[in-house]
Amino acid sequence: MESNLIGKNAIVTGGALGIGKETSLLLAKKGANVIVSDIKEEEGNLVVKEIQNFGGSATYVHCDVSLEEDIIQLTNHFINQNKRLDIMINNAGIANKPTFMHKVTTEVWNKLILLDLTSVFWCQKYATKLMLSDKKGGSIVNIASIAGLGASPSLGPYCVAKAGVIELTTTAALEVAKAGVRINAVCPGWTETAILDVAGERGKSAMEKNIPMGRLGKPSEVANLIAFLASDESSFITGSVYKIDGGTRS
Ligand SMILES: NC(=O)c1ccc[n+]([C@@H]2O[C@H](COP(=O)([O-])OP(=O)(O)OC[C@H]3O[C@@H](n4cnc5c(N)ncnc54)[C@H](O)[C@@H]3O)[C@@H](O)[C@H]2O)c1
Repeated sequence: MESNLIGKNAIVTGGALGIGKETSLLLAKKGANVIVSDIKEEEGNLVVKEIQNFGGSATYVHCDVSLEEDIIQLTNHFINQNKRLDIMINNAGIANKPTFMHKVTTEVWNKLILLDLTSVFWCQKYATKLMLSDKKGGSIVNIASIAGLGASPSLGPYCVAKAGVIELTTTAALEVAKAGVRINAVCPGWTETAILDVAGERGKSAMEKNIPMGRLGKPSEVANLIAFLASDESSFITGSVYKIDGGTRS
């Protein structure tokens, strides 16, 4: 087992699949106690089992990030066991079905903003408060997207939400920098996970063609960057926004 997160307590939202799953596995391999949180209980428990099978420590906690009350309970999970929260990975998210902005319904807009932006505001807010309360700092990593850095036609609500996540990150990071709470954002480019299913096979191969490295990213590659930002190896990094996208220009 690698070891630079031994004894750290970490929460990963949307930890059952894709980037969240690979991040949960990697944090646990590095020695963290990981809460794999999701709405997909079966898949989340499979991740927990995989972690326990290699001797790691993990628990599944159900949390629908569109509900503030669920997030309050989730962020308090370690505190209720007299432990502290060291690492918060705000990863859960969805994409909208490709639609031009002038055709986006209010229902779709509200859902995307709630799930991809307001949820991160809540997760970041409650995790920050806990990390400030015992004056021992912590690391929060928000998963945005290259779609939040530039225009992606047909993905308007998603782009707006992810641009919001970037601003949420950089603003809050400066507010709590002196207190030792670090907040950074990761902007993956197109990565091989279920979230890309909304684009269909044709959409996916068009994405692939636009990536200078000629392939989609792997969730484990994104997890490597997230784990670095979560760890003390990145101790002088805060308020930063990292692209991981095979060279994609956005
Ligand atoms: N895959 C990509 O190309 C890509 C690119 C840029 C950014 N991202 C971002 O990475 C993050 C992870 O996405 P992914 O690609 O692994 O997708 P994914 O669909 O494989 O995983 C998303 C996870 O979020 C969970 N989730 C969905 N709604 C939820 C809710 N209401 N409450 C709690 N959990 C919920 C899902 O169950 C799933 O486990 C997202 O924020 C996404 O926007 C992905």
